[in-house]
Parts: sequence; C-alpha cells; structure tokens
Amino acid sequence: MTETIKLMKAHTSVRRFKEQEIPQADLDEILTAAQMASSWKNFQSYSVILVRSQEKKDALYELVPQEAIRQSAAFLLFVGDLNRAEKGASLHTDTFQPQGVEGLLITSVDAALAGQNTLLAAESLGYGGVIIGLVRYKSEEVAALFNLPDYTYPVFGIALGVPNQQHDVKPRLPLNQVVFEEEYQEQPVEAILDYDQVQADYAGARATTSWSQRLAEQFGQAEPSSTRKNLEQKKLF
Ligand SMILES: Cc1cc2nc3c(=O)[nH]c(=O)nc-3n(C[C@H](O)[C@H](O)[C@H](O)COP(=O)(O)O)c2cc1C
Repeated sequence: MTETIKLMKAHTSVRRFKEQEIPQADLDEILTAAQMASSWKNFQSYSVILVRSQEKKDALYELVPQEAIRQSAAFLLFVGDLNRAEKGASLHTDTFQPQGVEGLLITSVDAALAGQNTLLAAESLGYGGVIIGLVRYKSEEVAALFNLPDYTYPVFGIALGVPNQQHDVKPRLPLNQVVFEEEYQEQPVEAILDYDQVQADYAGARATTSWSQRLAEQFGQAEPSSTRKNLEQKKLF
C-alpha cells in the first residue's frame, strides 16, 4: 500500500474545525495540486473562490446554515465556469451555445475532479474538510453573494480547516456492488437492505434515518428549483 492510497482510504469528512488559520503557503500548495486534475479538453471549466473573511463566511452561513462553513479556516466555492469559454470562443465565432446537459456535465465534472484533488491535498497536509453541495439549494442567492457572472454557477463548496473532530471511516458499499465485470449487474433490493444495516451499525445511536430513507427523501420528490432557475439566469439552461 502506498502513502497516497493509505491517505485516500483514511478519508472522512470533517465538519468541525479549530480556530486556526491555514498558512498562505499551504493554500497555494493545495490549490496548485487541485489545478492539476484532468479536465475536459483542458478547458478547465471551473473557478474557485477562496473565502477567508469571517464576514463573508457568516453571510454564506445565513443562506446555507452548515456549521462547517462558519468554522472553516478557508471556504472554497467551486464554480462551474464557461465565462472564459465565451471569451475564448468569441475570438473565432459569433455564436456561443453553452446551454444544455453537455455544458453542465463538462463544468460539474471538471469542478468535481479539482475539488477532490483539493480535499486530498489538504488531508495530506493534516487539514480536514467537507464538501458542501447544499450551496446549490440557494444557487441564486449564492451567485449574487459572490458576484457570479453569466455562464457560471455554484457547484459545491469545500470547508477546510484544522480538524476538531474525528470519526471512524464510513463504510462504503461492497466493492462487487459498485464495480461490475464486463457488464452492468442490477442489484437485488436485499443488497440495499444489507447496506442499510451496515450504515445503521456504523451510525449507532447517531442514526436518525436509514440510508434508503435518505434516498427516498432525496429522490421521492421533484428537485429543488434554485439550481435550474440560476442556470437559466446565467444562460446555461
Ligand atoms: C457533491 C457532494 C456534496 C456534499 N454536500 C454536503 C453538505 O452539503 N453538507 C455536508 O455536511 N456534507 C456534504 N457532503 C459530504 C458527504 O455527506 C460525505 O462525503 C458522505 O456522507 C461520505 O462520508 P465521508 O466523506 O465522511 O466518507 C457532500 C459530498 C459530496 C460529494
């Protein structure tokens, strides 16, 4: 096992932080490592907004009340970004048509890969963090708070800091229910029930709902509208 694999297998999200800054040199290391993630056609269709002022973190917390945001030493907003693409394309054509599913997949995958690099690089330096996807539920307000222009949208944030909590590693689905040989293998519902039990055993007294109940809460209703409304406003949908 390599040190890198050991680090990856030890990952847990950290949501409580000590009141300790992340030095600029470490942030630079983390973000330049993040930037080395692969991206679609090397378009690098994302931007990162680094938030260090407590005032801004508190303003975001008002919109998205996740404790990790206001406790973080640094909050990074990952933005799906075709604004640069529009400027580049305009050098060669009068038409720019980023609207649709491809544009969203390109930008969100690029942002996700850079985000995962960010978290791993931070963890390798002894920091911890958590991805905050809930920023999407307030997409329009978050876009306004960070002055996001046309062709951009918030994908997720990452709250980073010096960990002030420690959890056991969260058990994943059995590998053979996620990785299939040669062709897709649909899983029986028993596999879901088994994982509900694994999650219940892991969470113990902290458990409030089961894993499959959380799936029902998420997917049993129409998606929240803020993301789509903001994408329409930003000319991406
Ligand atoms: C796209 C994405 C969005 C997430 N959003 C949130 C969030 O808004 N709040 C939160 O506390 N955790 C969030 N998480 C963290 C997940 O809950 C966490 O990664 C998952 O439960 C697995 O736990 P672990 O990271 O500790 O292994 C998010 C993770 C991802 C990948």
